[in-house]
Amino acid sequence: MSSAGLIPGEGRDGGAPPARLRLRRPDDWHVHLREGALLQAVVGATARVFARAIVMPNLSPPITTVAAAAAYREQILAALPRGSGFKPLMTAYLTEASDPDELARGFSEGVFTACKLYPAHATTNSAAGVSDLAQITAVLERLEAIGMPLLIHGEVTDPEVDIFDRELVFIERHLEPLLGRFPALKVVLEHITTTEAVDFVVGAGPQLAATITPHHLQINRNAMFHRGLRPDFYCLPVAKRELHRLALRQAATSGNPKFFLGTDSAPHPRGAKESACGCAGIYNAPVAIESYAQVFEQEGVLGRLEAFASEFGPRFYGLPLNEGTIELQRNAQVVPMLLEFEGESGSPGQREPLALVPFHAGDTLPWKLNTNK
Ligand code: NCD
Ligand code: ZN
Repeated sequence: MSSAGLIPGEGRDGGAPPARLRLRRPDDWHVHLREGALLQAVVGATARVFARAIVMPNLSPPITTVAAAAAYREQILAALPRGSGFKPLMTAYLTEASDPDELARGFSEGVFTACKLYPAHATTNSAAGVSDLAQITAVLERLEAIGMPLLIHGEVTDPEVDIFDRELVFIERHLEPLLGRFPALKVVLEHITTTEAVDFVVGAGPQLAATITPHHLQINRNAMFHRGLRPDFYCLPVAKRELHRLALRQAATSGNPKFFLGTDSAPHPRGAKESACGCAGIYNAPVAIESYAQVFEQEGVLGRLEAFASEFGPRFYGLPLNEGTIELQRNAQVVPMLLEFEGESGSPGQREPLALVPFHAGDTLPWKLNTNK
């Protein structure tokens, strides 16, 4: 652990608050980097902080083959700022037609790091996902056999189930039976949002872990309705009640290695968010590490940030820890209301300059990444 003000062996902050925080360089275990002008706009924000990131495959069309993942990886590498050592870790989008041999080949060739399971229609570009888990039994058997992680968007899509209950019902109806059938399958329950998910992950064996986003640690569902409708706080799984946010903060800052960093940074152009049918997703990459640092400090355990951000993820995936470091400085920053980029967005006939509203827009964050270090 590298933070100042740490009481050895205990993990609680003590003494004067540190002015700087040096961390082993972290990784982001869940990010949406998109394509084209949007990729070009956002990739730098992730690459300036994180050495590696698990890149979500929910493009249109989705990344389902080794060839498509290899081509997408090239696109990402070509969009990186010069000199960046960032390494995208690619994922395969599971459909009911996924071929176990193709997935296993991608894994053994080092193209795929994991598979992503979207229940069909659960979220952005998930229509080609899986409606019936029984259809992918052979895939799950193979993943279990070869040690390839399964990353799950854990929400049911049953319209009878209240949107705020969809994660809990997914755990009961699908996740628990799945872990029973494939006891050695490595599973990450992505972007957890509920106290029930926390308890389930804590109680399960070491093959189950979870990622936690900065926004689910920072906001509850009231944020979407604060003095009007706020589409920039709408994401999936949707933010829940305050008691759930508090349970997530406890889990993330507990030092339990089953919980690690995954931002779910999910940019959509402003016009696609602020619309009569706005897209789900929060663009947090520009402030993600600073946002997590604020949470850990508020919980009095800044010294535990490094393990959450830089150690527990690679250990779960069986990958080496990063060698380099990053430095955060106590240097209050006001987050811009809007970020404008090269390129355009919108539908033909309704083009507009590409602009993204970042998470924490207008907020003052106490920490800032020192980009000179
Ligand atoms: C993600 C997206 O926009 O691709 N949206 C989101 O709200 N998180 C998809 C996802 O991870 O659910
Ligand atoms: Zn996501």
